[in-house]
Amino acid sequence: MFEHIPAYPGDPILSLNEDFQLDPRPNKVNLSIGIYFDDAGKLPVMDAVRRAESALLDAIGPRSYLPMSGLPLYRETAQALVFGANSEARAAGRIATLQTIGGSGALKVGADFLRRYFPASQIWISDPSWENHRVVFEGAGLTVNTYPYYDEETGGLRFADMIDMIGRLPERSIVLLHACCHNPTGVDLSTAQWAELVPVLQRRRLIAFVDMAYQGFGAGLEEDAACVRMLADADIPLITANSFSKNFSLYGERCGALSVVCKDAGEASRVLGQLMSTVRANYSNPPTHGARLVANVLSDTSLRASWEAELATMRERILAMRGMIHAGLAGRVDEVMRARYVAQRGMFTYTGLNESQVERLRNEHAVYVLRSGRMCVAGLNARNADYVASSIAAVVSGA
Ligand code: LMR
Repeated sequence: MFEHIPAYPGDPILSLNEDFQLDPRPNKVNLSIGIYFDDAGKLPVMDAVRRAESALLDAIGPRSYLPMSGLPLYRETAQALVFGANSEARAAGRIATLQTIGGSGALKVGADFLRRYFPASQIWISDPSWENHRVVFEGAGLTVNTYPYYDEETGGLRFADMIDMIGRLPERSIVLLHACCHNPTGVDLSTAQWAELVPVLQRRRLIAFVDMAYQGFGAGLEEDAACVRMLADADIPLITANSFSKNFSLYGERCGALSVVCKDAGEASRVLGQLMSTVRANYSNPPTHGARLVANVLSDTSLRASWEAELATMRERILAMRGMIHAGLAGRVDEVMRARYVAQRGMFTYTGLNESQVERLRNEHAVYVLRSGRMCVAGLNARNADYVASSIAAVVSGA
C-alpha cells in the first residue's frame, strides 16, 4: 500500500542538526540550528524560568484542557510584550491574540486563516528567508513569491529594490516581514527604512505578516518590536507571529503566539473565533506547561526583571562572539566577507561561504553551518571561536 511513498529528503535545518548529534568527532561545533548556547557550550535554563518552574511543581494541580485560544494570562502577557503595555490597539481590545505551538504554529494558523479568508491573495517573502517560511505557507495552499532583500555583494540590504517591488504588488497581497534579527541574513531594516515602508504598505492596501522569533536578541525587547508598533499605529492590516523559544530558551515547550490587529473589538472577537476554529481543526488546544512558565515570568515583577537581565547578557555575549570571530578572521578572508560578522545582527550571519566550502567545513573540520552559508553565531564560544575562524580560513583559501 505504501510502496509509492518517496523518501523524505530531510529538512535543511532540523535534519542537519540531527546529523550533528550523531557525529562522533569530539571537536564538532554546531553553528547550524538557531539555538543559543552559553559560553560553556550548554543550552541555558534561564534563572527566572527555573524559579517559575520550581514554584509550578510545588503547586502542581489538575491539568484540564486549555481553551482553544490558550491560557488567558499567557495571551495577555504575550500581547503586551509584542505590542507594548500601553498600546492603543490593546486598550481598544482590537487585537486578537492566541497561544500557538511555537512560532511555526503561529505561522501555520495565520496561513490557514489567510488562505480561507483571502483566497485570491498571494504571499511575498524576502529573498532569502527562513527556509521553513515557504514550506509553511505553501503547505497551507498559498502561492509564495519573493521580494528582493539581501545583497550578496555587500552583505547588506537591497532596500530600493525591495520597496519598489512591494509598491507594485496587487492589493490585499500578504508581505512577510522579519521584525528583527533577520533569519537567515542578520540584515534588518533601519527605523528610517521601516518608516519608508509603512506608507507603501498603506497605499497598496497590503497585509503585513510580521514574524518575530528573536525579540530581545537584536537591540532590546522594546527596540526589536518598534516596527510592529509602527505598523499597528499606522492601522496597517497586521498579523504577528512571535515565539518564546529563543528569548526564554524554551525551544521544546513550543511557546508562540499569533496576533491579528483589527479595526475594532467586534472584528477582533470574530477573527479570534475563526483562529480558534483553525486550532480546533488542527490540534484542538495548546499545551499547558510552557505557557504557564512564560506567563508567570512575564507577570511577576522580580522574575521578569531577572529574565530581562539574563536576556541582555545573552544578547551581549552574541555581540562579543561576533567580535571574536571577526578578529580571528583578520587577514585571512577578504574584508567584505569579514565585515558581515559585526555588521549583521541577531543569531545569524550569512557568511558568504559557498556550498562546497560549507561541505568541507563539515567533512574536514566538523564545523556545521547551513548549506546556504548561514551561521548561528550564538553557537560560538571562547573555546571554539578560534578553531572556527581557522577552519573558515582553510576552506576559503582552499588549503
Ligand atoms: C532556525 O532557523 O534554525 C530555527 O528557527 C529552528 C528551526 O525550526 O528552523
